[in-house]
Amino acid sequence: MAPESTQCVSSGSERQSPAPVTRGTRHGPGTCGMMPGMRIAEFGVEVWMNRWETRCGYNLAETCVESVTVGELLAIAGQDATAFTDEIAPIRMTYGAIKGSDRLRAAIAALYATVPPDRVLVAHGAIGANHLVYQAMVESGDVVVSVVPTYQQHVAIPESLGADVRQVWLRERDGWRLDLDELAAAADGATLIALTNPNNPTGAQLDGAALDGVAALADRAGAWILADEVYRGLDQAGDGTSASFADIYPRTIAVGSMSKAFSLAGLRLGWITAPPQVLDAVSRHRDYSVISVGAVDDLLAAIALEHADAMLARNRSIVRGNLAVLDAWVADEPRVSYERPTSGTTALLRIDAPMSSEDFCLQLLEAQGVLLVPGSAFGVEGVVRIGFANAPGVLADGLERTSAFLATLVG
Ligand SMILES: Cc1ncc(COP(=O)(O)O)c(C=O)c1O
Repeated sequence: MAPESTQCVSSGSERQSPAPVTRGTRHGPGTCGMMPGMRIAEFGVEVWMNRWETRCGYNLAETCVESVTVGELLAIAGQDATAFTDEIAPIRMTYGAIKGSDRLRAAIAALYATVPPDRVLVAHGAIGANHLVYQAMVESGDVVVSVVPTYQQHVAIPESLGADVRQVWLRERDGWRLDLDELAAAADGATLIALTNPNNPTGAQLDGAALDGVAALADRAGAWILADEVYRGLDQAGDGTSASFADIYPRTIAVGSMSKAFSLAGLRLGWITAPPQVLDAVSRHRDYSVISVGAVDDLLAAIALEHADAMLARNRSIVRGNLAVLDAWVADEPRVSYERPTSGTTALLRIDAPMSSEDFCLQLLEAQGVLLVPGSAFGVEGVVRIGFANAPGVLADGLERTSAFLATLVG
């Protein structure tokens, strides 16, 4: 199913162009002329961020809620810095607890209604967790359904493993809401259905009925759900935390992370929760690429998650306050429109500009030092992704400068 917007193609310019999320990227742009063993599409967003995030003044491409310092984390947790130093000083720098410490896995399990600690396996970020899940669960010839636009791992990795990846597109005109009939049709014969929920890049969150609908159709298809839930806990409405697929559908592999909703990307710590047979399969691969996570990272993550309510309260106050600012800005900008996100830290802004999304981002960066992500990195043209979870001052200044750039556009 094609997206409503123009599918992007490689620009062929001198600039390094993020690879689009398209079918058949295994042999498409971004893979030609590569070394054997590198037959995976370039990770469009990561290439873009690696290139520009240290060369901008106003990073509105960031997806983590404004990161905390270790000192701020300890303050939120009500822990004295000297006491913390005393706690880490005696830690012997062995490999530590291989699957993650009991303390950490208990704190992760507490984020779910029905997940016991022994169903949790710690990984090197959600990026490492997702990678392990695909290695363990997908073989050449399998059908994987991926709801797009999405974090590109969920298309490129299964493709690189030889899976038939069926992309089900969210559409802007539907408010980026998932069409359950389309998903059901694509899921026929599928091994695994992959979703980011809340969605990156649209910020759309599945409501309760949609969660149940996805679970029911996955059940009919006999498919696993890979639920990448790294933005869970940042809903704009209610208490802020929607149900996890892990508590709804038994054949769920749920992935979470310290990076986004918990502002601690520097820990490089994520996790997988799944039934035992999946964790066994994942562990087989994990032994080759992870061993364990750092003991100090494990401890800091445990401290943060034992104070998950306070961490999420801080972060929801940032995303809710910032989205109100973004909303007002969009309403005032004649060249900008969007479907307001319901959760997460990102939104797609439709820009009425006489140029590609990549050129728009590059010209904005050059003129005003503001970094956004071109929609082309997600296979959608005419839009740019904004991250609205940074420090409020950075967002306000970045939007003001974007307005100044928009005012210079003709046509
Ligand atoms: C949906 C999604 N999954 C996974 C990741 C990777 O997160 P981590 O920092 O935990 O590796 C990201 C990062 O942007 C993401 O947006």
